[in-house]
Amino acid sequence: MGHGLKAIVFDAYGTLFDVHSVTALCDRLFPGDGAALSRLWRAKQLEYTWLRSLMNRYEDFTAVTQAALAHACEVLALPLDKAIAAQLMSAYDNLALFPDARNTLAGLSGHQLAILSNGSPPMLGRLIANSELRSTFTAVISVDALQTYKPHPSVYQLAPAQLGLAKDEIGFVSSNYWDAAGAKNFGFTVFWINRAGVNADALGVTPDHVLKTLIELRTHLT
Ligand code: LAC
Repeated sequence: MGHGLKAIVFDAYGTLFDVHSVTALCDRLFPGDGAALSRLWRAKQLEYTWLRSLMNRYEDFTAVTQAALAHACEVLALPLDKAIAAQLMSAYDNLALFPDARNTLAGLSGHQLAILSNGSPPMLGRLIANSELRSTFTAVISVDALQTYKPHPSVYQLAPAQLGLAKDEIGFVSSNYWDAAGAKNFGFTVFWINRAGVNADALGVTPDHVLKTLIELRTHLT
């Protein structure tokens, strides 16, 4: 059942933390447009990571997230001033944990647990401190060390390197299909958390396990 996996490495944004928990604040600031803003902000944030990686024009995730917010507001004709931008960026340091995350992590304490994320080290540091998960993880690994983003294979290599394990000793968990595909392409055992019941992308790479919630990890790993 345990697959001989020694460490379980989690994606952060969208997997443990709900990026759309900013919707309520977006909607208070821009009534009626909160959901659209949150969706476009996230979509552009990811798109900019991929484009910057392909262009070799890395900027850290804080800068990318700020730029994506400015663009999304421009597209939706929402007046973003400095104070509102700061408020929304600080909401990113306080994203809600998905309801199944804390219990799942506690139940997997027989494994080394880590995060591998696009997030910049300061962003991840604040997010993890604010959610009181500091003692949960052996390592919080940021792509920033390599100045490129997921799903470049070199980024996934950071986890075995930092944890001192072989890639087949690592299980990788993501709700983002493209990230799950990237991790499988690299060679991890991959758990795709398909909360929304969406279709898999046609990338010719298939995660090892498709789960509906994080909590199901416990039946696979304990
Ligand atoms: C991360 C992005 C994928 O945390 O959400 O790496």
